[in-house]
Amino acid sequence: MADDEGKDDGKRRWTGERDKDGGSGERRRGLSKRVKTARGRKLSSTLWLQRQLNDPYVQRAKEEGWRSRAAFKLIELDDRFALIKPNDRVVDLGAAPGGWAQVALTRGASRVIGIDLLEVEPLTGADFVQMDFMDEDAPAKVLEMLGGKTDLVLSDMAANTTGHKTTDHLRVVALAEAAAYFALETLNPGGSFIAKVFQGGTEGEMLIALKKHFEKIRHVKPKSSRAGSPETYVVATGFRGISGDA
Ligand SMILES: C[S@@+](CC[C@H](N)C(=O)[O-])C[C@H]1O[C@@H](n2cnc3c(N)ncnc32)[C@H](O)[C@@H]1O
Repeated sequence: MADDEGKDDGKRRWTGERDKDGGSGERRRGLSKRVKTARGRKLSSTLWLQRQLNDPYVQRAKEEGWRSRAAFKLIELDDRFALIKPNDRVVDLGAAPGGWAQVALTRGASRVIGIDLLEVEPLTGADFVQMDFMDEDAPAKVLEMLGGKTDLVLSDMAANTTGHKTTDHLRVVALAEAAAYFALETLNPGGSFIAKVFQGGTEGEMLIALKKHFEKIRHVKPKSSRAGSPETYVVATGFRGISGDA
């Protein structure tokens, strides 16, 4: 995947003493953890582990019971733009391990339908399907599970990175575009759409379509998004509805 935002799945967690400052990292200042390279462990894995151990959002997610550090990004976006409304029906594309679904339900959504290449642990109020959203049948499957229109479409989908910048960029754009066209087909008027994109934001036809059908488009990088990551989010609010010519 393009980042490891959703991957604090308990397999490689720090189980040491918790900070009493709520994980803000204040008390750890100057005490960052170094990880020795173990035999058989790649340098990239060692660096990943070191980054996880020193990331205050990873610690906070663990302390507050969120399934992913990515949860804080949706919390920030929702605090800023009031995207999740009581009784909303939410579609969560790229849902594993379920942090965004937890946030949506905690903030009043009545139902979440999620899809991911990976299996997602059950969560009350949510239904998940393990499937590639780029499969021809995937949008129809999500629609069938939803049984009607939706109020909020979230996409935090991130493809595995190849290290080749152009390829990685094109993959993220393709996922975001698929999510955007799904949103145009399924949102209720007034609904919102959020998708992970790379810096430079949405471009071309996708941006034209979003501008045409939403009242407001913003590109936002939440504070909890890692500074070194090229990711940013497009936040489209006030869906105007479709008059058959999207
Ligand atoms: C950053 S994680 C999502 C984290 C999630 N928002 C959370 O808070 O738990 C990105 C997810 O996108 C999924 N993904 C990538 N490409 C996908 C595709 N084509 N179809 C479905 N899921 C996909 C990955 O499997 C991964 O679990």
